[in-house]
Amino acid sequence: MRTRAERFSPEDEVLAAARERAAEHGIVPVGVGAAAALTFLASAGRARAVVEIGSGAGVGTVSLLRGMPREGLLTSIDTEVSHQRLTRITCAEAGFGSGRVRMITGRALEVLPRLSDGAYDLVLVDAATVEYPLYLAEAVRLLRPGGVVALDNVCWTGRITDPARRDAVSAALRETVRAVRTDERLAPLLLPVSDGLLCASLLG
Ligand SMILES: C[S@@+](CC[C@H](N)C(=O)[O-])C[C@H]1O[C@@H](n2cnc3c(N)ncnc32)[C@H](O)[C@@H]1O
Repeated sequence: MRTRAERFSPEDEVLAAARERAAEHGIVPVGVGAAAALTFLASAGRARAVVEIGSGAGVGTVSLLRGMPREGLLTSIDTEVSHQRLTRITCAEAGFGSGRVRMITGRALEVLPRLSDGAYDLVLVDAATVEYPLYLAEAVRLLRPGGVVALDNVCWTGRITDPARRDAVSAALRETVRAVRTDERLAPLLLPVSDGLLCASLLG
């Protein structure tokens, strides 16, 4: 079923080219199934204001933009100018001009506090995995009621369910999953696509 889900929404040449650039630069983009889920979430929620933590090579960026309405603005944060350059190339090839994406270069935990409370419809988390618990807290603050946070790679290729794994990344992911499941403000959903896309909508 997972293989079928992963192949259910085949990608076009724009995202295939972005994946090639990602591989050349050592960037791990969102998987095919997760990319399809992001387009779905942005479209279903009519997400006009979106934050992406980790621009990478722009696979997630374009997947989100494809679901957003025309007037939507995506804010993409990354520490690496070179990655943001790749993201701009991917956006341009997909037909999205610079007016649709606000790039902010910097560490996510320094940039996020500058963004407004309750002003965003969707937040994608895909940057430094050890910082996921802190990104989650910031994302919940940024969301309007009904808004959605999506965290990529929460399965960490199966490592988080292995109790022998005690490294910082596995611990951070376990803490994040626990926080999403126990936060009474959130409706959690774990989508078994790609390496696990953990979603939660803000109740109220
Ligand atoms: C897994 S990649 C993102 C892939 C992207 N979502 C895509 O689909 O192409 C992670 C990105 O997060 C960036 N990053 C790592 N640590 C960061 C931090 N502390 N703040 C902001 N960005 C960070 C990396 O430079 C990298 O581009």
